[in-house]
Amino acid sequence: MTAPGDDAASEANDWDSAAYDGSHSFVYEYGSDVVELLDPQPDERILDLGCGTGHLTDRIANAGAEAVGLDRSAEMIETARAAYPEREFVRADARDFDVAGSFDAVFSNAALHWIDAADQAAVTDAVADALEPGGRFVAELGGAGNVDTIVDAIETELDERGDEPPADPWYFPTVGEHATHLESRGFEVRYARLIDRPTELDEGEDGLAAWIEMFGDRLLGSVPAAERDAVIAGVEDRLRDDLCEDGTWIADYRRLRFVAALG
Ligand code: BEZ
Repeated sequence: MTAPGDDAASEANDWDSAAYDGSHSFVYEYGSDVVELLDPQPDERILDLGCGTGHLTDRIANAGAEAVGLDRSAEMIETARAAYPEREFVRADARDFDVAGSFDAVFSNAALHWIDAADQAAVTDAVADALEPGGRFVAELGGAGNVDTIVDAIETELDERGDEPPADPWYFPTVGEHATHLESRGFEVRYARLIDRPTELDEGEDGLAAWIEMFGDRLLGSVPAAERDAVIAGVEDRLRDDLCEDGTWIADYRRLRFVAALG
């Protein structure tokens, strides 16, 4: 989904598709590498699971494939349809979807980590049901250790204020955990890799605050709205030496990429 846009995500975050496309465009820009891993072919039908504002669905379709974007967020789907009226977008939940016809591949960028660990089996089973026998599931999500430095600083800040720390806000598995999960649902894992990808945030000095405001509802859920700016300022102070270089914030992203074939 290009990231968010879907599933549990929209239960905890109200997706602002304009901010998502504007200040956080790196999410789908980095997704181009995952499209390369997908290697879409002209005669294929491909589902983009958690398509967000649809940029990668369009990129897949530009390779000649028939691409369908799916996202749970009504705002994301509306924005995607307006931007790419010639493409097909479906509003549905990744944990329980039924799109007509079958697919040669299911693709997903920066979306699966928004879905709780307990719901991953439902997603993977829905993907398996949507695929032709031998079809492939190609995805990138946050991997183990993703944004740990930021999460740790927020937890410390909340702890010192006496606020409740968040419980496991995202699903960031190790290669072993996720490969084992895929195998247990009938997939053969052909490729899986954990990649350190320090990621420059847009908006200069305001980059970390903008990132936390866009993605961090799950982290700051216990903080009253009127106190959030103070918490974010405290987090910035904690992280400036480690994550800010010449006025640009660099988030400690780690990605898990995989290609798995349905047995
Ligand atoms: C990610 O893409 O890794 C990510 C985005 C928002 C929050 C957490 C992780």
